[in-house]
Amino acid sequence: MAGCGSWLFSLTVFAVSLLGAKAEIKLTIPVGRLFTYELLRETFQNDFEPLSKLYAGRLYDDPMIFKCNQQNFPDLPEWLRFTQRHPYDNGFLYGTPMSQGKSIIEVYAVNKRSYETTRQIFVIKVVAEKMLPFQAEFFIKLREIEKVLPSAVQGEIKQDLQKLWDTEALEMINITNALDRGGRVPLPLAGHFEGVYVKVGSEQYFSDCLMKTLAAEHGKQCTAGAKVKVPGGCNFCSIPSNCISWCKIELFDLSKQEPAPPAPTMGSGIMDIGVDFDPPESPPSRDYFPDYMVTVIVPLILAIVLCLLLAYIMFGRREGVAKRDARTNHIQLYHHHTIHGNTDELRNMAGNRGASLPLSTLPMFNSRTGESAPPLQSDSPSIPLIMAQHDPYSDTLPRK
Ligand SMILES: *[C@@H]1O[C@H](CO)[C@@H](O)[C@H](O)[C@H]1NC(C)=O
Repeated sequence: MAGCGSWLFSLTVFAVSLLGAKAEIKLTIPVGRLFTYELLRETFQNDFEPLSKLYAGRLYDDPMIFKCNQQNFPDLPEWLRFTQRHPYDNGFLYGTPMSQGKSIIEVYAVNKRSYETTRQIFVIKVVAEKMLPFQAEFFIKLREIEKVLPSAVQGEIKQDLQKLWDTEALEMINITNALDRGGRVPLPLAGHFEGVYVKVGSEQYFSDCLMKTLAAEHGKQCTAGAKVKVPGGCNFCSIPSNCISWCKIELFDLSKQEPAPPAPTMGSGIMDIGVDFDPPESPPSRDYFPDYMVTVIVPLILAIVLCLLLAYIMFGRREGVAKRDARTNHIQLYHHHTIHGNTDELRNMAGNRGASLPLSTLPMFNSRTGESAPPLQSDSPSIPLIMAQHDPYSDTLPRK
């Protein structure tokens, strides 16, 4: 029974994983508009859980992380970014495609409890769309990217900006984490946020409120760092955390065509059509013999001369072999002579042994008084070999 159950179990896992691999989500999005897709942990959780467990009424809420890449590539396409704050949060794919085309995105979900993985494939087709000529970028200080990407929050932000722009026709173009634009990681304290840049675009020209940010006075106030007051009637922020920084508004007017770069000016070396190319005369041949002389022959001669000179010093000017032998003989003779002398000296010294020994070598010599004891039979057992020299009154010493 158990074997059968596990077989059934593996079959269902196989089927689920087969289904998971087959699941392909097709998306069609326009060029130049913000794309966001929330990777819901719930849907991936279903892939992890065998159906049998689901029927048993057990539901898990596993921590999960996602790995995203373009199929057959190590990373996502340049325009697409992924973010997930925490394994217990949903992940987001977002970005703004700038050219048409098709991207196949693989998303692997890793269950951090069981370390199972599952895969989902997204086929994102980017289609042409008219570019919005008027664009503006706002900075929202009290937000983090994951909190802004859910469509509900995007809607709230858009509503405020629609009022500010005084038009309904507003499109989200880009949402960027301030950290990706040189922002600093905030302190891990309440009230400190990374900040988010939101770019929107419209067919309609900027409103008066937006134009006020272009005034010279506005720029001066902002660079002075003073707390800049939002001009009256322009504060449309309904939710405090969605309020934009009035000093960080940037307007882009793409309707003004940039002057086309001037056509390249033709240089002088361009041939007329139908004329054959006449190559220039080859340069006159050059005589390399003097160069050869200077670079090869002269150093060679110098080297040979030096060689000969060295050979002469080494062999010609050296003392001859016979001379050298004579010299060694001489040294040997000298050695012989000194050995003789030394032996004679030693013999003489040995001959003088009969003479009286120096006083200090006598056993009974008193170094202080200079007295000397009569010669003693040193091998007599009655006399100690060492006398108490520090005692001048000792009986053993004879007195005069
Ligand atoms: C969106 O923001 C990112 C990050 O700052 C940038 O690399 C990208 O070019 C932007 N895209 C558009 C269409 O502005």
